[in-house]
Amino acid sequence: MSTHDRAGSGPADEPGPLHGGPDDDYTPEQLAGMDREELNRLGARYDGVEVLHVDPPPAPGSALEKQASRQVAGAFGIAGLFGIAFFVVYAGSGWFLPSWQWASEDNGWSALYTPALGLTMGGALIFIGVGLVLFVKKLLPHETAVQDKHDGSHFDRTTTAATLMGGLDKTGFPRRKMIGRSLGFAGGAMGLMLIAPLGGLIKNPNKGNPLGTTEWAEGVRLVRDDGSPIRPGDQEPGSLETVFPAVPGGNRAADAATMLIRLRPEQMAVLEPREGQADFGYGDYVAYSKICTHAGCPVSLYEQETSRILCPCHQSQFDVTQGAKPVFGPASRSLPELPITLDDEGYFVARSDYIEAVGPTYWNRERI
Ligand code: FES
Repeated sequence: MSTHDRAGSGPADEPGPLHGGPDDDYTPEQLAGMDREELNRLGARYDGVEVLHVDPPPAPGSALEKQASRQVAGAFGIAGLFGIAFFVVYAGSGWFLPSWQWASEDNGWSALYTPALGLTMGGALIFIGVGLVLFVKKLLPHETAVQDKHDGSHFDRTTTAATLMGGLDKTGFPRRKMIGRSLGFAGGAMGLMLIAPLGGLIKNPNKGNPLGTTEWAEGVRLVRDDGSPIRPGDQEPGSLETVFPAVPGGNRAADAATMLIRLRPEQMAVLEPREGQADFGYGDYVAYSKICTHAGCPVSLYEQETSRILCPCHQSQFDVTQGAKPVFGPASRSLPELPITLDDEGYFVARSDYIEAVGPTYWNRERI
């Protein structure tokens, strides 16, 4: 019996009686000889697909199609522009745009940086979505079909591939160049937007040693939260005052908060500064970082009877008479001490920045 005598070996839309399964009805050669549309219809019929209703798309070249295409391409184009804007904000900050890093003074760009990233990324995603919705609603045929589920075979794979490719044809992408290009533009910009943050993984975050420096510097006054400077004698022995560097925004610099402590005579008698830091204090005053070296909480509970500063987070305790050495709890490093002296007007000033990083230990702290 020749292949053309086999059941179902006729034209795709007029198959013979279905028996023995589609692989018995059609040889690979016969399937290879059919075009995509024939395979698509044949596969649908064998798959038990029943098309209930079809709304055709706008006619190719019609005014309706052109208008819809422009709307879709416009949405993708705007998405692309938002994606490019995201990249410009992200990559340009600190390059040709102001640095986004918060630098303690009021900086308009620093405040705008994160919202700008969110708005541009959000805009790109929203307009990609708008473009896709418009494309599906206005340019694709709308078909209602039902199908029974069944197992796969070579026949299924071949006809399914034809169905998928036929679906791509129906999108009109090969013909609708404007939409294809705008989608490519939007996709490229989105890719750029997603890849750009990876740059942070190769950029050296320690450039300029941001974790190892604060706003303190030689001659910077120690001031209270209200900006008033402090002279020796302003505090009672045994008291503690939280001070900040007298620079713009200094009272909001999270790493610069410092405790200025006036020691009592009996504490002075047993004072053991850290090696090489004997002259960091001034008279009976010492100044230690307020940032806990365990996990960065503010250590502000000072118990003058025991000379201990307590961290409320995990109960680390530091002895102010021993260079703020940790004597209890999980902290393993002393609170850094700020070298202080007086300026010409008799107010406390820093002699330099802290000579070590303040706050928690981090893995490469000793190397930056
Ligand atoms: S943060 Fe201070 S003890 Fe944990």
